[in-house]
Amino acid sequence: MRLFVTGLALCVGAHAALAQAQAQDANLARNLAAACFSCHGTDGHAQSGMASLAGRPQAEIMRIIGEFRSGARSGEQGTLMPQLVKGYTDAQMALIADYFSRQKPVQGAP
Ligand code: HEC
Repeated sequence: MRLFVTGLALCVGAHAALAQAQAQDANLARNLAAACFSCHGTDGHAQSGMASLAGRPQAEIMRIIGEFRSGARSGEQGTLMPQLVKGYTDAQMALIADYFSRQKPVQGAP
């Protein structure tokens, strides 16, 4: 019986640690994404004239980020982003893109 109780306590403890790790991840993603809010709007809900990121598929955002990285989007299509994406690892970008994909899309946005 004692063994069972100990096992149960360990199990509950492990779950609490996991939940905490997941909560930290959620904060990490939002904190990283917050660097984009100043131009793309809070949670990716942009003001008119700027691209909204909210609700766009993670794969689509990552594809565009890749185009900024490779230089496929440059000149008029990429004035600022090609430089900006250099400050992030792919793992950080994946977290950011996932965060935006989970936000409610802007009505009528692309
Ligand atoms: C200082 C302003 C600024 C910040 C900060 C910024 N962006 Fe941008 N973003 C732009 C501009 C301007 C464009 C249009 C392309 C260009 O000129 O580089 C753009 C375009 C984009 C596009 C393409 C949208 C489309 O539909 O064509 C994506 C995706 C994007 N940004 C993602 C991000 C992410 C992710 C971050 C945060 C890591 C971020 N941006 C931070 C200014 C900004």
